[in-house]
This record gives sequence, structure tokens and C-alpha cells, in this order.
Amino acid sequence: MSKPYPPVYYSDYLQLDRLLASQTPKSAEYGKPAHDETLFIIVHQVYELWFKQIIHELSSIIHLFAHDYVDEKNIGVAVARLNRITEIQKLLIDQLRVLETMTPLDFLEFREYLLPASGFQSIQFRLIENLLGMESEQRLLFNKEAYYVYVSPEHQAVLRESEHRASLFQHVQRWLERTPFLDLEGFQFWPTYRATVERMLQNDRAIILNNTFSTEEEKHKQLQELSKNEESFAALFDEHKHKDLIAKGRRRLSYQATQAALLIHLYRDEPILHQPFRLLTVLVDMDELFTSWRYRHALMVHRMIGNKIGTGGSTGYHYLRATVEKYKIFADLFDLSTFLIPRSKLPELPEEIKKSLGFYYSVKSNTETQSYAEKH
Ligand code: HEM
Repeated sequence: MSKPYPPVYYSDYLQLDRLLASQTPKSAEYGKPAHDETLFIIVHQVYELWFKQIIHELSSIIHLFAHDYVDEKNIGVAVARLNRITEIQKLLIDQLRVLETMTPLDFLEFREYLLPASGFQSIQFRLIENLLGMESEQRLLFNKEAYYVYVSPEHQAVLRESEHRASLFQHVQRWLERTPFLDLEGFQFWPTYRATVERMLQNDRAIILNNTFSTEEEKHKQLQELSKNEESFAALFDEHKHKDLIAKGRRRLSYQATQAALLIHLYRDEPILHQPFRLLTVLVDMDELFTSWRYRHALMVHRMIGNKIGTGGSTGYHYLRATVEKYKIFADLFDLSTFLIPRSKLPELPEEIKKSLGFYYSVKSNTETQSYAEKH
């Protein structure tokens, strides 16, 4: 049987001639070949290839969310692709161990030839951050300058353009805001939840006060902690307080989206909420893995160059440590756990609502009762 397509040769298909001719150590160019520079180049190149794959996945996920409704099936696809990203991220963290087989002294053999190049100039890494939803105000200044000042004018244009595109954060926020079940007839989630929380907090207060094993001083401390808890719940019930927190940079996710995300967490046992819950979970996984990579990279930098400044000119380890906590994208989803209450204390979802959730989870309007299938 004749094949409809011409035969493919492995090496040509993968363009190995180009790929394998792309490692040109600077130390050899300057006549002082350093054995470990090849490893250094290959490790960075492999990172950039994986970054390319992550961008490919993220762009497709953003595309899936760029509509007024998101089909349940597409949430499954998005979750699968985000899971793929998290598997790649685990490799990215592990890969640092290969580079750490190079000793700090070996690195010094060629480090000076690299100035002022640095991972700080990785365009793909910045694109990933921007696709996820990193805000310019969130970024640390680098020598009092914005992050894009240190890349070529063409790359600057690419990065500036990417800052204006809708990010995964924005799409997920809009998707959460569209969630129809917050105001379903017959079930006012918010007042019911509030009453439950107030009962729970009163109960906590009574437990502290009636505990015969605690000293007065211990009780005082526990009551102080409880007051803090009450305050953070108060912001959850009051849109103005929530907006204040957003203005102060302590929250980012909108009030409505926060409510919806909380509801998904609380009622995740409902079959219709399984996929949305998995989506929120994998976003937290991904953010956590990026945070872990930042910390792990910072530790490697510490052992490799101590407290020296970086080749890109930052304070090195100290700059990188500062990015670890500050560069989270979905921090609000981490914070949600503060507001969870035990399943046993959860207001029961009326049977009617359980049924209807299945119908119109993906419908755009909050008030319509027509199913997605009926509409299309
Ligand atoms: C010997 C190994 C390495 C050392 C000593 C090192 C050092 C540094 C330093 C000091 C910085 C801060 C910017 C500067 O002043 O240059 C930095 C940033 C960065 N490096 Fe590395 N690095 C190493 C390996 C890697 C690898 C394998 C990657 C993978 C692509 C990487 C990616 C990055 C990225 C993306 C940044 C920017 C981080 C940010 O600004 O949030 N680095 N690196």
C-alpha cells in the first residue's frame, strides 16, 4: 500500500542539525574552554523549550475562556492542560539539581564572559508571567527600572504588548463572576452562610471562655486571634470592605468572583462543581509550583554566587528571595481556605437547585433558566 505522505527522516523532522549546532560556549570562543559551560547552555536551552510548551498550553487555555460562557467540556480540557503545565513545572524544579552538579568554582571559569546576560532577560519567562496575570505594580523594580528596560527594543515591544492582553487571571475572574448560582431563586447562599459563620464564631468564643484548662492570659490571646478571624470574615460580607482591601493591595479577586470561588469550594461534592473545583485547585497548584521554582532557584543562586550581585546587575539572591512571595498570581485562591466551614455546618442546597445547577452552569445570564443545550 502506497503512503499518502513522503517519508520523514527523524533528524530532519526534529531539525537536529540546527538544534545540536546551537551550543557555542563563550569560554571556547575566548580560547579558555570551560568544561561546564556546555551544561550551563543546555540546561538553559531545555528550560526555554519547556517555557515554549507552557506558553503554548496557556495561550490555548486563555482562548477556551475567551467567551461569554465556558462549556463544561472546555473546563475539563483547561484542567487537563493546566495539569500538564504542573507536570512540566515539577521537571523544571528538579532540573536545577543537574545544574548544581557544577560547583561554584567551575561556574567562575566562565561567568565573567556572560555579562550582562541573565535569566532576567528571558522573554518567554516574562510572557508566562504576563499570560498568567502578573501586574506591573506587583513587580519589584530592578535597579529602579522596570523589568523590560534590560531587553532589546524588539523584545520590549513584545512584552509591553503582552501586558495589555487579557490574562488567565482576568478570564478566570470573569468566568467566576458569571457563575449563576449565587442568586438562584429559593436559595440565598450569602445570608445563610453568614448566619452559619456567626453561629460558628459565637461557638468558638464560648469554647474559649468555658475552657477550664486555659489560664486567663491564654484565653486573652485566643480571643485576640478570634477577633482577627472575625475581622477577615467581616470583609468577606461587606463589598466596601472588600474593595478597600483591593485598594490596599491585600486582595485582588473581585467581590463576586470571591463569593463564587468560595461557593465552589464549599459545595465541591456536587457533581456539577467537580470540574470548577479541580480548576481552582490546579491554579493553586500551578502558582505554588512557580513559587517553589523561584525559591529553589534563589537557593541555587545563593550557593552558586553567595551574596555577589547577579550578572544582570541585581542584588542576586536577595532580589530573588523578595520575588518569592510577591509574585503569586492567585493568592486570593490560597486565602479562601480561611473562609471554609465544616461540611456538617453547611446550609443544605435545596434539591431543586442541585438539579438546576446541572442545567445552566454555563449560561451567561444569572436570571435565565434556559439550559446551554437548549440555547445552542
Ligand atoms: C548557575 C546558575 C544560575 C545563576 C547563578 C543564576 C543567577 C541569577 C540571578 C543572580 C538572577 C537575578 C538577576 C540578575 O541579577 O542577573 C537571576 C534571575 C533569573 N534567572 Fe537565573 N541563575 C542561574 C540559572 C538559571 C536557570 C537554569 C534558569 C532557567 C531559565 C534561570 C532563570 C532565571 C530567571 C527567569 C530569572 C528572572 C527572575 C525574576 O526576575 O523574577 N536561571 N538568575
